[in-house]
Amino acid sequence: MGDKISRRKFLGRATGTVGGIGAVCALYPVAESLQPSKDAMSQSIAKVDISGMQDFDLKSVPFKGKPLFVMKFPEGYDLKKWGGKAKESTNYEKIQPILKRQKNVVAIIGVCTHLGCIPIWEKHSGQGYKAPIYYCPCHGGVYTPWGDNIYGPPPRPLWLPKKQKLVGNILTVG
Ligand code: FES
Repeated sequence: MGDKISRRKFLGRATGTVGGIGAVCALYPVAESLQPSKDAMSQSIAKVDISGMQDFDLKSVPFKGKPLFVMKFPEGYDLKKWGGKAKESTNYEKIQPILKRQKNVVAIIGVCTHLGCIPIWEKHSGQGYKAPIYYCPCHGGVYTPWGDNIYGPPPRPLWLPKKQKLVGNILTVG
């Protein structure tokens, strides 16, 4: 009797184990397919079609294993009226000529300079700001739309790739 029970228990456990392994094996390809491909994430050059982008629209594409944020600013947007105060205004100064030559479109790297999380674009303001911001949900970092760090632990502005050029409606970065 005891032998039968232990055999039953053994078979039950063995079946459960095999079933569990089977489920993991079945789900792995599904999880893999949801990830961006390695090729896509390692793109060393990004080409983004900006046609149809409206003010403060954001497009995110893979670039060198990171998300590249392409932002369309409103025509004649005075960044100084945005309302926030940046600790450093490095990006603010740098993007002026870029906006002029690229139909108000600029690309920055969407990786927080604190510990590398991906900031969220809050187009209609957020976190108590009355202006659009990037908000990093990991530790509450806040950036201006042009990537200057204005609140929280991020030590530097978002990275602004030097090589970006608009030809027609295609922005090439890298
Ligand atoms: Fe963005 Fe810490 S990783 S605030």
